[in-house]
Amino acid sequence: MFTFNDVLRKIENEIAELQYPYPPKSLYEPIKYILSLGGKRIRPALVLMACNLYKENIENALRPAIGLEVFHNFTLLHDDLMDEADKRRNKPTVHKVWNANAAILSGDAMMITAYQLIGETEPAHLKEVLNIFTATALEICGGQQYDMEFESRTDVTEDEYIEMIRLKTAVLLACALKMGAILGGASHADAEHLYQFGINIGLAFQLQDDLLDVYGNIATFGKNIGGDILCNKKTFMLINALRLANPEQKKELNDWMSRTSFSPIEKINAITAIYNQLDLKRLSEQKIQTYNKQAIAYLDALSVAPEKLTILKEVCAHLMNRQY
Ligand code: IPE
Ligand code: IPE
Ligand code: MG
Ligand code: MG
Ligand code: MG
Repeated sequence: MFTFNDVLRKIENEIAELQYPYPPKSLYEPIKYILSLGGKRIRPALVLMACNLYKENIENALRPAIGLEVFHNFTLLHDDLMDEADKRRNKPTVHKVWNANAAILSGDAMMITAYQLIGETEPAHLKEVLNIFTATALEICGGQQYDMEFESRTDVTEDEYIEMIRLKTAVLLACALKMGAILGGASHADAEHLYQFGINIGLAFQLQDDLLDVYGNIATFGKNIGGDILCNKKTFMLINALRLANPEQKKELNDWMSRTSFSPIEKINAITAIYNQLDLKRLSEQKIQTYNKQAIAYLDALSVAPEKLTILKEVCAHLMNRQY
């Protein structure tokens, strides 16, 4: 079996060798930029690790795995534009280095490149892989649409939030694992268990991303702190703040959410103070743990030797241990 570092090395080599043969070069500069900034490469790593549970030789999974990473990076270009985010992976976002049109069009080119790479899947599995990828890609668009619509609502429920993050984030991790399982020749039951494992780590992962957006360390998080607060994103913490707040806190939350001109730092500090008063960091951490436990139960239900699961379990523990 390959170690996590082996898998990462394969992914980096493959990304470094991607060719962009069509002019104009300027269309591809933002693509090379975002892909060169690294990131955790968790999605292609999940494809390869899932495949490796069933097969020693995982070369057939490499191109589709890279396809998912290119697709993920495309969503980041558009997401940063939609979220008006200035920083990603500790560097200025594409629409800041270039402009909004570059983020849109180079993003589109990345989405097409992703299809090209996934289209290189061996014929025996191509139809199944394309079907799950296409369904997933549409689900992500749906999740992003909910995420944006929720900004202007104040009555979003926790269930609606969980469904939104399932769509915008969890399904891609689940798709990565299921694609790996399919390419490895896993049984239908195992492919489904890996999919559900991905959904649960995906929910935990987005809950943690929302937590780090408030309590994270800017250097390790690589994004500006407080971005979600500034856009009135309906995160687990804001939804629970609105639910648990006393009348005074509720008035203050609603007041900040309705203001159109404000000092960003003052808004971030005021809302974070309410989160602190309501102990929402702890509530979030408990929810994250619940999904982590459910995720592990799906892994343990697989019909593979338990020792083969160690790497996946370690990677998930590491993923959930991103620093504050
Ligand atoms: C960022 O994903 C978008 C979310 C789903 C929170 P990652 O945190 O996996 O981003 P990179 O690829 O490692 O930078
Ligand atoms: C990301 O959600 C979801 C997708 C990119 C599809 P966020 O908006 O929370 O991701 P970050 O925090 O910008 O990475
Ligand atoms: Mg964002
Ligand atoms: Mg977003
Ligand atoms: Mg975020």
